[in-house]
Amino acid sequence: MTQEKIIRLADVSKSFAGKAVLREASLEVGRGELLALLGASGSGKSVTLKTINGLICPDSGAIEVLGNPVSEMGEAELVPLRRRVSYLFQGGALFDSMNVFDNVAFPLREHLDLSPQDLAERVRSLLAMVHLEDVEQLQPSELSGGMRKRVAVARALALDPEIILYDEPTTGLDPVTSRAIAGLILDLDRRLDVTSVVVTHDILLVSQVAERVVFLEKGNFIFSGSVAEARRQGPAVVREFFAAGGSDA
Ligand SMILES: Nc1ncnc2c1ncn2[C@@H]1O[C@H](COP(=O)(O)OP(=O)(O)OP(=O)(O)O)[C@@H](O)[C@H]1O
Ligand SMILES: [Mg+2]
Repeated sequence: MTQEKIIRLADVSKSFAGKAVLREASLEVGRGELLALLGASGSGKSVTLKTINGLICPDSGAIEVLGNPVSEMGEAELVPLRRRVSYLFQGGALFDSMNVFDNVAFPLREHLDLSPQDLAERVRSLLAMVHLEDVEQLQPSELSGGMRKRVAVARALALDPEIILYDEPTTGLDPVTSRAIAGLILDLDRRLDVTSVVVTHDILLVSQVAERVVFLEKGNFIFSGSVAEARRQGPAVVREFFAAGGSDA
């Protein structure tokens, strides 16, 4: 099956204060894929997601997303692309000063011109997708960690993105809530035909959802394959990562 590649990193390098994080790293993601991006803490996973979303510009190399040369685009050109590529920040940051309704409505108000009724309807259906109801008037501080993550997911889905970049969607959640989030990621991938890149240390999440695993180590993607291949035939560092349950501590 030839699959259209909608994310391409070609020889991408990025250093911070002389410290190389990505070293000519290359990665391709096909349309509809559900990819898990693994690697030790500090290996550059969040940096990779940020380069895909145009939040960090690489020092060299090319990044193409949905046919757009992201690494060569300015902020203004990136705005319409970010409608199609949503990024669930590590920690799932919500706007603390806004209630749940306004948090989820934020991207809709920014990009669309909906009537108040249509806006309310859309927010309600997004919250229903993440199995939340009757929380619209609550402040983020009044929600549990798992509820906050789900609100963040609802907000990330608001504009029907074609690509969703999840940065540690289950970190810090109890196992039951983690499983619910895993189910949600899988469900969205199947129902909405989105392309998902999931950064995580949660091996159970990886085992449950990933169609393919890539492993970032010393600035490069040193492994790409199925979960079973990662466990059995991966390089030692990858097998150790799985054997240790994903923890790199
Ligand atoms: N904006 C920045 N300015 C300076 N250094 C940065 C910046 N963003 C990331 N780094 C550095 O790049 C390296 C990789 O960071 P990154 O956040 O991508 O790690 P990570 O793999 O996501 O780790 P974790 O699993 O802990 O989230 C780290 O050494 C970090 O200090
Ligand atoms: Mg990170």
